[in-house]
Amino acid sequence: MEYQELIRQRYSCRAYQSREVEAEVLQRVLEAFGLAPTAANRQSMGLVVVRTSGREEELRRVYKADWFAAQPPMVVCACAVPGKCWTRRDGKNYADVDVSIAMDHLILAATDQGLGTCWVGAFDPAAAREVLGLPEGVEPVAFTPLGYPADSARPKLRRKLEELVHQERW
Ligand SMILES: Cc1cc2nc3c(=O)[nH]c(=O)nc-3n(C[C@H](O)[C@H](O)[C@H](O)COP(=O)(O)O)c2cc1C
Repeated sequence: MEYQELIRQRYSCRAYQSREVEAEVLQRVLEAFGLAPTAANRQSMGLVVVRTSGREEELRRVYKADWFAAQPPMVVCACAVPGKCWTRRDGKNYADVDVSIAMDHLILAATDQGLGTCWVGAFDPAAAREVLGLPEGVEPVAFTPLGYPADSARPKLRRKLEELVHQERW
C-alpha cells in the first residue's frame, strides 16, 4: 500500500474475525518489528506472540475485552528491556522509545497486510507478566490484537497541525 494511504487507513480496530492469519502474512508483520531503528542499534525490545484459542480467560485478566481476549486469533505484546538499551549521558534510558518504534512498524505492516490492530496500553501489567511468563528486566509496554477486522475505520479526530507543529521555538 502507498504510504500516505497506509497511515490514513490504520485505525484502532475493536472487532475481529476469528479467521487465522496466514503464516507468510504473520512473518512479514513480525519482520517489520525487527527492522525498526533503535538507539545505538541495541535492538533492546522483544515481542511475545500469544494465540488466543484456549487462553481466553487468562487474556481477559490482562485486558477485559472480547475484541482482545477472544475474537482475534492472536495478540502480541511488545516489551522493553531497559538493561539492554542505550542510555544517554544524563541517564535517560530509551527502551520505551525503541519498543514503541518497533510496535509502530509492526502495526503499519499489519495494516499493509489487511490486518486490524489496536494499541492497548490500559492492560494489567501484573497479569501480563504472569500470563506471558516475563522474566525480571522485561517490561510489557503495549499489546495489540492481530487479526482480520470485523469493523471499519471511523473518521480521525485530530488536533490541527498548527497546534502540534511549532516553527523555530515552542
Ligand atoms: C500508547 C497507546 C495506548 C493505547 N491504549 C488503548 C487501550 O488500552 N484501549 C483502547 O481501546 N485503545 C487504546 N489506544 C488507542 C487510542 O485510543 C487510539 O489510537 C486513538 O483514539 C486514535 O484513534 P485511531 O487509532 O483509530 O486513529 C491506545 C493508543 C496508544 C497510542
